[in-house]
Amino acid sequence: MIGAKSALSMLPSAFINPGDVVLMTVPGYPILGTHTKWLGGEVVNLPLLKENDFLPDLEQIDLELLKRTKLLYLNYPNNPTGASATKKFFAKVVQFAKEHDIIVIHDAAYAALTFDGVKPLSFLSIPGAKEVGIELHSLSKSYNMTGWRIGYIVANEKFVETAVKIHDSASICACTIAQYGAIAALENDSKIVPEIVSNYKKRRDVIMGRLDNLSDYFEYVKPAGGYYIFPKIKFPHDNSESVAEGMIKECGVITVPGSAFGPIGESHLRLVFCISEDLINRAFDRIDEFCRRV
Ligand SMILES: Cc1ncc(COP(=O)(O)O)c(C=O)c1O
Repeated sequence: MIGAKSALSMLPSAFINPGDVVLMTVPGYPILGTHTKWLGGEVVNLPLLKENDFLPDLEQIDLELLKRTKLLYLNYPNNPTGASATKKFFAKVVQFAKEHDIIVIHDAAYAALTFDGVKPLSFLSIPGAKEVGIELHSLSKSYNMTGWRIGYIVANEKFVETAVKIHDSASICACTIAQYGAIAALENDSKIVPEIVSNYKKRRDVIMGRLDNLSDYFEYVKPAGGYYIFPKIKFPHDNSESVAEGMIKECGVITVPGSAFGPIGESHLRLVFCISEDLINRAFDRIDEFCRRV
């Protein structure tokens, strides 16, 4: 696939007819939902809440809705919350998908980026998951190959055949240079990934330390994976967009306002670990001043 994003944009064409429902976790990466709507499908949002460890509550979904549901989108490690899933939760998802005849699309774009002893977890490693699941992997994040535009899907033969049909009509194949790059990356996985994970962990720890010093203004949940942190903001009278805009205008620091992820993301900012520790510290020196001025 030409990255996980291209897979997310094509999969609805394989499965969605007008009136079909896709369950999407929010806040989250919206692509599968966007294409579902374009095809006349309906998107139903499942909130990811701190009190549920940012895992969706499958039991509260209306049974009538489930009769029309074709796909469930999950993404762990999660963008933007940084949460990771558990085997227990995934086992519940397998049971749920079988019971209601739903295909699970697990977007594992950040799969290898886990911290503090949390092990990468494939949805397909759960017994029974291969009957109901499609997993998307990306070279963008775990191998720093974003611009190469390369990823892949893993699923049973039936699902792969269906995806290939769509992919072949929508594009043809990923660039061969990127494919050879991906082979080299995957063959050297044990050399490349630990260093990348260690760098992201160091940056995450610097960001958490700086946020701890600003606890009057930010409250966060420690990310277990991925490369984002999604602190709640405690600025009086301000919404996430005005805070993000203020940071751009007054400090030259770019964040993503939580509102970009829908109403549930309001009062949060998304920060990313994609710059050096030195730059993170320089950005926070400015954020410190910004906060004290508010
Ligand atoms: C959850 C999620 N899935 C997929 C992607 C896209 O990944 P790729 O670069 O492989 O298209 C992103 C990245 O922005 C993402 O955050």
